[in-house]
Amino acid sequence: MHNLKRTILITGASSGIGRKIAEDLLMQGHVVIGISRNCEQFTTYHPNFIFEKLDLGNLSTFPEKAKALVKKYTDIDTIIFAAGYGKFCSLEEFSFAQIEALMNVNFTSQVFLTQAFLPTLKQKKRADLIYIGSEAALQGTQKGTIYCASKFALRGFTQALRQECAKSHLKVSLINPGMVQTAFFAQLNFEAGGKPEQHLRPQDVARAVNYLLNSDPYCVIDELNLTPLHRVVHFKK
Ligand SMILES: NC(=O)c1ccc[n+]([C@@H]2O[C@H](COP(=O)([O-])OP(=O)(O)OC[C@H]3O[C@@H](n4cnc5c(N)ncnc54)[C@H](OP(=O)(O)O)[C@@H]3O)[C@@H](O)[C@H]2O)c1
Repeated sequence: MHNLKRTILITGASSGIGRKIAEDLLMQGHVVIGISRNCEQFTTYHPNFIFEKLDLGNLSTFPEKAKALVKKYTDIDTIIFAAGYGKFCSLEEFSFAQIEALMNVNFTSQVFLTQAFLPTLKQKKRADLIYIGSEAALQGTQKGTIYCASKFALRGFTQALRQECAKSHLKVSLINPGMVQTAFFAQLNFEAGGKPEQHLRPQDVARAVNYLLNSDPYCVIDELNLTPLHRVVHFKK
């Protein structure tokens, strides 16, 4: 374990995977700046938690907002990109607006945020960019055209960015979880099996983040794939 105290920006800190990562890192004494639309969901007060309300689906003024974050939080040395959502249906059922919104949250906003912070992060003695991809970044699935496209895009982006950062001390990593029991499935017509061996838990992903953050400074873990012991999908009635 390294004792380095970090200032960590986490998107999607209000729920599920991002929230668990935020809680873990706060417990370890790091400062966490959480981005999402609703801070009310992050109910636990913590003196080291700062909330920034931002809609990652609406990118019209996003580059300016990202630049403002860079100016406001010069100590940020780590960003964890955990915001995202799923929409699964056949391509003909998507409206243009739905496609745009999904790509904005799951991919384009992450590119904009990365681009804004890159110059300062590259100057740091140690910095990390950790993206939450998905098993959908590895294999196209039925009704997953846009979701898979967003996650494949993110995977290609992180692989290329890793090369671009290879001369700095900035590490770039991607975690691809299988089904994790979170609110992600609340609006979907399927979910992971309920038995412990049939789904991952947010803490499994938080542990993977810890592993990345505490790895040797000269060792980059490019990609981690996590899957539940038994893959079971339940379709809701
Ligand atoms: N659960 C799974 O099975 C699973 C598997 C693989 C990968 N993932 C990925 O893991 C990430 C987190 O998912 P989760 O399971 O933790 O889902 P979740 O519990 O629904 O959390 C999603 C987070 O994303 C934020 N978010 C969504 N839309 C946003 C927007 N327009 N602007 C700002 N923030 C937004 C939400 O915050 P607000 O609602 O407060 O804005 C929330 O904090 C996603 O990228 C997802 O694709 C999930």
